[in-house]
Amino acid sequence: MTTTRNRRRTFPWQVMLTTAVAALAAMPAPAAAQAAANDEVTFTRDIAPILQRSCQKCHQPNSLAPMSLIDYEEVRPWARAIKLRTGLRDKPGVMPPWYIEKDIGIQRFKDDPSLSDEEVALIARWADNGAPRGNPADLPPPVPFIDVDQWEIGQPDLIVSSPSFDVAGDAPDWWGSIGEVPTGLTEDRYVAAMEYKEITESSVGETRNTVGGLFVVHHATLGVTDPNPDENEDDPLAAQRRWPTHEVGRNADVFDPEAGKIMKAGSKLQFNSMHLHANGADTRAHLDVGFKFHPRGYKPTRKWVRMSFGNGVDLDI
Ligand code: HEC
Repeated sequence: MTTTRNRRRTFPWQVMLTTAVAALAAMPAPAAAQAAANDEVTFTRDIAPILQRSCQKCHQPNSLAPMSLIDYEEVRPWARAIKLRTGLRDKPGVMPPWYIEKDIGIQRFKDDPSLSDEEVALIARWADNGAPRGNPADLPPPVPFIDVDQWEIGQPDLIVSSPSFDVAGDAPDWWGSIGEVPTGLTEDRYVAAMEYKEITESSVGETRNTVGGLFVVHHATLGVTDPNPDENEDDPLAAQRRWPTHEVGRNADVFDPEAGKIMKAGSKLQFNSMHLHANGADTRAHLDVGFKFHPRGYKPTRKWVRMSFGNGVDLDI
């Protein structure tokens, strides 16, 4: 029982008091009522901060999850589903979708959104108790969401737009190439960070309120041509290999500062492997790819190498 308490408020004497009073079950005990009231898990005080930290990046109107989890009214109908999904821990379907086991391997990750055992238990207790709202005064201020038009990497030095594509509201999924676009670079530059944005140019009809409902690109792989391969390199085509893929909901990619990725003068971006899907509306869209460069004169001190091992699913890296 004690593990189901919020750590902040777990005082041994409180546990003992509650247990002791519970043992005198039949007696009306004002002290017990008082303890229970203080101890009630509420949305405003206990649950909202968890949702802000670990859920709202996706569960908000402009993101990819199927429903928004910001206001109590939005969250309340999902209380039981939230208990179920957060309780899955490292199993498929867990929320937040973070499958790192808690008892083996590396545990410290940047921006780790996963929940502690105490938080999972707190959510379960809240749901089992009828998901009470609590005191509105306890509600933390809302977290600001990054504007969808804003670049996480900061204003890019170069933005390359893919060719536009049309996806009818009821079209079947489509895989293929939409062609290539010159980067316009007249000198070699090293890329420090990059980011994709799907831009809707027009949308006619109702988009579906489902995963990816705001988007028509499921994923896109990017090729960067190398018009001038360095034959002395171990891997002469290293410059054009292995650029990050775009997927719905993907964060920006920031490369190791010592291993900037070269993009050469006269190169082109190739959008050779797209997966498009209908979102209910007749949609015309394109991808914008933003690049941040290292300063001119930068030279990497580390090399990119290709390594293949495992299958990427069974590994905790
Ligand atoms: C990285 C994005 C992301 C984060 C973070 C995230 N979710 Fe989700 N959530 C999704 C997506 C996508 C779906 C739909 C796919 C699915 O059902 O698994 C979903 C589905 C759900 C569902 C099931 C909805 C249904 O139709 O039954 C619940 C409940 C849920 N999320 C709760 C949460 C909670 C609570 C958190 C935080 C503790 C959270 N999610 C964090 C993306 C996210």
